[in-house]
This record gives sequence, structure tokens and C-alpha cells, in this order.
Amino acid sequence: MATLRSAADSHPNRTHTCGQLTSANIGESVVLKGWVDTRRDLGGVIFIDLRDRHGFTQVVFSPQDDAAAYELAGSLRNEYVISVEGTVAGRDAETINPKIPTGEVEVKVSSLQLLNTSEALPFQVSVRDEKGTLANEDLRLKYRYLDLRRDELQSNLVLRHKVYQATRNYFDQHDFVEIETPVLMKSTPEGARDYLVPSRVHPGKFYALPQSPQTYKQILMVAGMDRYFQIVKCFRDEDLRADRQPEFTQIDVEMTFAREELVYELIEGLIVAIWRKTKGVELPTPFPRMTYREAMERYGADKPDTRFGMEIQDISDVASGSGFRLFDSTVADGGRILAIVVPGEGDRGRGAMDRLDKDVVRKRIGAGGLIYFRLPSDGTGVQSSVKEDVLPGATVAAIVDTLGATSGDLVLMLCGNAPKVYEQMGTLRLHMAAETGQVPQGADGPWNFLWVTEFPLLEWDEEAGRFFAMHHPFTSPRPEDLEAFGDDPGKIRARAYDLVLNGTELGGGSIRIHSREIQSKMFELLGIPEDEAKRRFGFLLDAFRYGAPPHGGIALGLDRITMLLTGAPSLRDVIAFPKTQRAQEMMVQSPDEVDEAQLKELHISIVEEEDK
Ligand code: AMO
Repeated sequence: MATLRSAADSHPNRTHTCGQLTSANIGESVVLKGWVDTRRDLGGVIFIDLRDRHGFTQVVFSPQDDAAAYELAGSLRNEYVISVEGTVAGRDAETINPKIPTGEVEVKVSSLQLLNTSEALPFQVSVRDEKGTLANEDLRLKYRYLDLRRDELQSNLVLRHKVYQATRNYFDQHDFVEIETPVLMKSTPEGARDYLVPSRVHPGKFYALPQSPQTYKQILMVAGMDRYFQIVKCFRDEDLRADRQPEFTQIDVEMTFAREELVYELIEGLIVAIWRKTKGVELPTPFPRMTYREAMERYGADKPDTRFGMEIQDISDVASGSGFRLFDSTVADGGRILAIVVPGEGDRGRGAMDRLDKDVVRKRIGAGGLIYFRLPSDGTGVQSSVKEDVLPGATVAAIVDTLGATSGDLVLMLCGNAPKVYEQMGTLRLHMAAETGQVPQGADGPWNFLWVTEFPLLEWDEEAGRFFAMHHPFTSPRPEDLEAFGDDPGKIRARAYDLVLNGTELGGGSIRIHSREIQSKMFELLGIPEDEAKRRFGFLLDAFRYGAPPHGGIALGLDRITMLLTGAPSLRDVIAFPKTQRAQEMMVQSPDEVDEAQLKELHISIVEEEDK
């Protein structure tokens, strides 16, 4: 007879998860617990797919097995939580489901307990519409606990967990020490805005949440900790994109006496360990390397996606001197004429080319305009977007020849000043790759890792009229470039490197400055007055007085690594409780107003924004 106990906590212990039973368990008595995913009432027999994070198991109720359980099963609804006891049985051959590990068996239920009911759901958890889209994302984020019941999100979080484990194991094996650094700290210079926390005890003073533990980890090297790592939350108040969250997690690393080669070797080892643990893939090492300059010239990006070709070619020499004003004046003014060849697009119509020019090249990329040659696949020659009496056929032929373009190809050209025109062409290259289906989707690779090296130390900001550190102000210049410190700082290269995967920046780091003099000089170059440098970073400059060893390191974006490993389109899919584009967490509704009393205690008053 069925036991219908209402006391939810008197249910028996579960013997298996919903993803565990196979034909090897046939005949065993088992207890399963989980959520009702689907219920099919065939009149005389009820099938329920019971779900937990481990999978699904079909459980079967029939009056012959247990009348009371059958009756209760009739009232179960989606997402009710139940406990069942029963016997594992093999399924009939025609009902075997080869798609799931438990697909060969079912559990014939002899006892059912209802552990909890569920109201009608605000959206169907894993139901997609005919286009494959889920319910509205804001709604899913508001009820994140329901969205997280989705298999896809659950397995993303489980994979993320494996990334933590692989990371901790790897560093432990390599003699690194995991050390926590303060979350309430003061402003660090990673270039974004800080999140500030007012101090109650010190009126008018604020902590800043760390944009990274950069200064602390350097201090730990001065302290002699030798090899440090931390899986650490960082906070940056910056414009959000699919691969940026205001709070995110870094795998942060620093090593005493490290040179570039040691960082590359150890981080490659870490990445290999992560990919082995999460995907069972054995990545080849060493990873390829490319200087920043080469990356910009060939791909128009400091994080090149090398999974497809369409490399940028500089055709300034062959394209100029024909009398075509745009090309000639570009080169005369010191600009460049750049081209890419898009395979298989030579038959595009005029309308599609006009849209590419207007909507993508001018509007999105902000370039002056597009020049193009179409080479139809029927081999009928070259159709230039510029009339022949303006751009002579001989020049067109010479360009096509230089580029090695053939029938079926589309040649796209942009003119302008470096480095901007390279960046524009880099964006156009990515756009064309995406549009023509050249970007591999999913989570099965290829995995094109790349170290980008020799970044410039400084970046000139036109608006501010000063240099900014391209990585951060603690990055060491290359010793051979040091003479340029005085006369041409823009030319100094840094001992900085990025790790790139498939066009995404996974991490960045550098060998640091460990000399007080060079560090002070760097602040000077960045236009940070001495007193300000002292106020903000005096502790570091002081520490450098007392036997600071050479050191260097890197930080990898753990969320980004997980996003690429899972093939998820956004960081939101690999973070349990992410923020929206507007930096809100929809479930708890943060940020939120606080009580007047709290504000008072913090010596803060809210000033209404004046009407603009
Ligand atoms: P950097 O600023 O390059 O370097 O950051 C390192 C890595 O952190 C990840 N990342 C982010 N991920 C998600 N959302 C964000 N808003 C975000 N911002 C950065 C990226 C990036 O490559 N202290 C230095 C490291 C060092 O020099 O050792 C630093 O933070 O994957």
C-alpha cells in the first residue's frame, strides 16, 4: 500500500539522483526525489519525467502498482517537488530513449510523497518558441531560481565549478599560495570607474571596491610570498557588453623573479589543465605568439580571431598614383589604403553592397566609405564600385593581382590614417566573417590561443591631451626602449602581454616596474603629480624602497574562460546571479534605495539631479 505522509521531512533518503539509474540497476528498490518536469496521463498509467540537476528519470504510476500513489500522481503539476520509492524496470524496446543516460529504464512507483507544490510558473522553464528563443531575459533574471533550473545553465555552473577546481589544483601543484586581499580598499588604476563604499567611521571618506588586486599582489611579492594566486571578485563601473560585467572574477597571479617566458609557460600549463578537466581536450603548447604591431597590421585588432583568414593587406603602393583622387590623397597625406578579400561573396547585388556601405561601414564602423570590387563567380571579370574613368582598369587589375583575388571573391577597401583605419578594417573583417558564417559556433573548438606581446607602454588620449598607461602604470617598459622615455614616449614598448582566445581577450599581464625611480618617472609621464602619486600609491613606492624583487604576473577572466568553454553567448549565462546591461540584478532588485537613517549614519545626503 502507498504511504501518503504529509510531513515533508519524514521522507526516506534518496538512493540515487535522477541522472544515475541504468539497466544495471534493474530490479533494485530505489528512492528518487526531484521536480516534476512533465506529466503524461495515458488513462490507467501516468508517466512523469522526474528532474534534478543530474538528469531525468521516467517514473511510472499505475493503480496495479499502487492505487494511492496513482491517484496522487493525477494531481501533480509541473515543478511540484516529490519523493518516490519504487523498483527499477527495463523499458519496452520501443520506449527506450537513447538520448538520455537513464533512457533504458523507468521506476515503477510504490510510494509517492508530495514534498511541495508550485504555483503556475511565470514562464515555462525550458520551453523555447518556434525561433528557439526562451522567455524574455528580464523576466528570467527576475525569477533566476527558475531559469537556473534549466539544464543548460546548471551545466554551465557545474563547468565553472570545475574551472575553480582545476585552477586551485594546478596552482597548488606549482607551489602557489592562495591569498585573499581586501575588498574594501582604495582606488586602483585599471582605467574604469570605481564602485565606492562610504565609511561610517570616517565621514567623507570612501573605500573603493578593487578593480583588481594589482597593488596588493605586488606588495605580496615585496613581502616575499614568491608565488601568489587568487580567484577573486573585481568591480568595475564601466559600460557593459556581452563580455563585460560590473562584478566579475579573475584568476589573479603574481610571481617573484618572473620573466615573460615563465609566465607564458605556467599559464599555458593552467589553460591545458582547465581544458583537460572540463572538456577532456589535450591542447597543444606552446601557444603561438604575435606582437601587438603584427596583430594590428594583419587583423586590425589587439585580440585577433585567427580562426578564419581574410587578413588585412596594405595596398597603398599598388593602389596609389593612378590619378584616383581618394587613393592618391590618402597616401599623400600619410594615410593607408587597406583591403580584405571575402571569399564566396563576389556575386553580391548592388543593394546589399549599398547597405554594407551605409549601415556597417559608415554608421557602425565610422569609416568614410567603402570601395569594393566584385569578382562574379561566372568569371566575367571585375566590377569596381568606382567608374573606370575615375579608377583605371589597370590599377584595378594590379590590386586584384596583388591580393590574389579570383572569381567569386569580394574585395573590400578602406582608406584612412593609421592606426584608426586598421581598427576599422579589423571590425569590418569580423563583421564579414560573422555574416558569411566563417565564425565557428558552439563549444567544440577550434581553440585558437594566442599571446599578443610587445604592447605599447602608453596610449595618447587626444581629448585629455595626455598619455595613459595602455595596461596599467605598474607595467615595466622594455629596457631597450628606455632611451625613448624622454623624447618619444609613444614609441616605448611595454613588457606586457595578453592571452587571446578566438578573438576574445582572456587575460592580460606584465612584468612590473620594481624600481622606485622608474615607477616615479612613469607617474610623471602619465601626468600624475608627485603629491597625487604619493597619496594614491605612496604605499607601493615606499615598499619599493625595501628590497623589492623583480616580479610579474597576469590576470585571467574566469567568467570569459567559462563563457568560451560552454559556448555561451554572454557572461550572464555563466554567472549565477548576473547583472543586466544597466548594471541591475533583477531578482533582488539591486541597486536599491536605502533608509534615511542609514544615509545619515554614513554622512551622505542625496542631491536631486537638476533638470538637464
Ligand atoms: P585587465 O584589466 O586586463 O588586467 O583584466 C584582466 C582580465 O580580466 C577580465 N576582465 C573582465 N571580465 C568580465 N567583465 C569585465 N568588466 C572585465 N574586465 C576585465 C578580462 C581581462 O583580460 N591587474 C591586471 C592584471 C595584471 O596586470 O596582472 C588586470 O586587471 O578577461
